[in-house]
Amino acid sequence: MPEQIMPDQIMIDRFNRHINYLRVSITDWCNLRCIYCSPLDKIPKLKHEDVLTYEEILRIIKIGVGLGITKVRITGGEPLVRKGVYDFLARVTQIEKLRDVCLTTNGILLADHLDEIKNAGIKRLNISLDTLNRKKFIQITGYDKFDKVWHSIQQAHLKGFGPIKINVVALKGINEDELIEFGKLSLVYPFHIRFIEYMPIGNSQVDSTRHLLTPEIKERLGQIGKLIPLNIKTSQDGPAERYKFLNAPGEIGFISALSHHFCSTCNRLRLTAAGRLRACLLSDHEEDIKIVLRGGGTDAQLASIFFKAVRHKGIQHTISPGQTSKIKQQMTGIGG
Ligand code: 5AD
Ligand code: SF4
Repeated sequence: MPEQIMPDQIMIDRFNRHINYLRVSITDWCNLRCIYCSPLDKIPKLKHEDVLTYEEILRIIKIGVGLGITKVRITGGEPLVRKGVYDFLARVTQIEKLRDVCLTTNGILLADHLDEIKNAGIKRLNISLDTLNRKKFIQITGYDKFDKVWHSIQQAHLKGFGPIKINVVALKGINEDELIEFGKLSLVYPFHIRFIEYMPIGNSQVDSTRHLLTPEIKERLGQIGKLIPLNIKTSQDGPAERYKFLNAPGEIGFISALSHHFCSTCNRLRLTAAGRLRACLLSDHEEDIKIVLRGGGTDAQLASIFFKAVRHKGIQHTISPGQTSKIKQQMTGIGG
């Protein structure tokens, strides 16, 4: 007889971390080719039938919510390239007991779909933008789309989305000369500018010599003014260390995956586009939930895959700055 899910069963891992945040990659496909994310050679795209359907994703999310997931982030690849995404988002936000649904996007398709996203019930957006310079945008992403992304950010702001988080992967010799300019955006707009340390994942075009770590970024931002720490962490917060400049409407965040890893407070689990549960971005261990689902698995059997994935969550990752990638999966398939 299949085991039953207990109504209040929650996911606590071996190191006493409560897992309540699920990041869901709905496609491995993307309309950009960021150098730190995409390999030089052609990326093998998942076959249509290998990607979870929306129905399947919704079922998995609901099982997760039954196990204490309260926050879901929809990501990719680029989630907005997937057909039907806006109806899907509306269905996710309607899931009972889910307190927070947010979206990570590269902003290319965003401006034209802000109303649909808003009507779907999404309020918070994370937008990836690594440069404020059009030519450099082409160098980093392979496409001449800076204006499009910047326009999307402005439109999202005007339409009342907030907070808008801007994800900047800091790379030595590539965008390090723009750190100050990014920091100053927080003086003008209520955006959260988040500097992310590059993580060596998959076969990307960036190597470890490009690492630019948080202490150095903080020091450079000191030229703008004093970074005032914000001690307002909630259980729904991600790993960003949050600061702001005096009287600034926006914030500055640091995601220091390498220099100061936040593994001890990691509350997340990932569902990959191919239907695998992954407990850690920086460990290739995954549990195949799709096979159980497509094999007619019961809710209790699917729940047991969640627990299995959580049991594999290690105490912390072992990747240090300057190291080359040990992670085989590409970021696009795992979900950034
Ligand atoms: N290291 C750090 N951040 C990355 N992202 C993608 N690849 C990497 C990487 N190797 C981030 C992007 C984007 C989000 C989806 O993931 O900045 O904001
Ligand atoms: Fe696409 Fe995001 Fe990867 Fe850039 S970082 S290639 S926008 S998935």
